[in-house]
Amino acid sequence: MTEDPRINRLFPIQAKGLSLQEALAFPSGVGRWVRAVFVASVDGAATVAGHAGGLGNDIDKQLFALNRALADVILVGAGTARTEIYGPAEDDPQWRHLRDNRSPTAPMAVVSHSLDLDFSASLFTEAPDSAKTILITCADAPARARAAAAEVAEVIVAGHSSVDLSAAIGALHNRGFARIVCEGGPQLFTDLLEAGGVDELCLTRSPNLVAGAETTILRGGQFEPPIDLELESLYGTEDGYLYLLYRPVA
Ligand SMILES: NC(=O)c1ccc[n+]([C@@H]2O[C@H](COP(=O)([O-])OP(=O)(O)OC[C@H]3O[C@@H](n4cnc5c(N)ncnc54)[C@H](OP(=O)(O)O)[C@@H]3O)[C@@H](O)[C@H]2O)c1
Repeated sequence: MTEDPRINRLFPIQAKGLSLQEALAFPSGVGRWVRAVFVASVDGAATVAGHAGGLGNDIDKQLFALNRALADVILVGAGTARTEIYGPAEDDPQWRHLRDNRSPTAPMAVVSHSLDLDFSASLFTEAPDSAKTILITCADAPARARAAAAEVAEVIVAGHSSVDLSAAIGALHNRGFARIVCEGGPQLFTDLLEAGGVDELCLTRSPNLVAGAETTILRGGQFEPPIDLELESLYGTEDGYLYLLYRPVA
């Protein structure tokens, strides 16, 4: 097993060489918890040449994998699933011990209105029975695609002309998924914030400037008033990356 990577806590109390697992532990005794996970450059870009992968360092990749292992379910927007060619989560030996009494991997839950997805792709056909992919859609999604989806995935219908994300989170929780890790993307994160459905943002800040027309971690118009965040903790590594845990101010 690879060793638990170490990072330095800079806030609230400085401490060197903490384990990533300790840093990212979910709060205890809170029941349902939705953690959104993103990486962004110093100027706010969430992609380089259209993909997030160009921004993360090795620790960020491990942070991403650790969050997957901590998750009961991995929530993702269809845009990200299409662009990043999502498959089922992989059984990760490094973090397998975190999944005692749970399925070896967490299921993917993909949010889509159009259902414009390849149902013959590994995301649907190679997900194990213990972590069958879930599709979260709304009532006016195309009926034929919905029937095709039901052949290969568990389908949750929440809302009429767009997915009602509060209802969707409630439906996941009713199925026993309490720790919900949302891997974005920007549209889903925006909608989730508007629905009051985010408990925590786990943001890696990469020490680069990207510029250009790259997307940020949000889409659409401004929040008025802005959503205030409270910094829960801040970690860093010597290569200049920062790892922030924020919570929306209630
Ligand atoms: N830096 C990072 O950490 C990070 C993380 C994730 C993604 N990204 C990047 O972000 C880009 C994708 O951005 P995106 O905004 O398109 O991603 P997204 O939020 O993953 O996908 C948007 C799509 O999700 C569905 N959706 C989201 N909210 C919905 C709602 N309330 N009701 C119904 N459907 C809903 C819709 O799917 P349908 O179109 O199927 O209806 C919508 O078009 C990619 O380039 C990816 O690499 C970066």
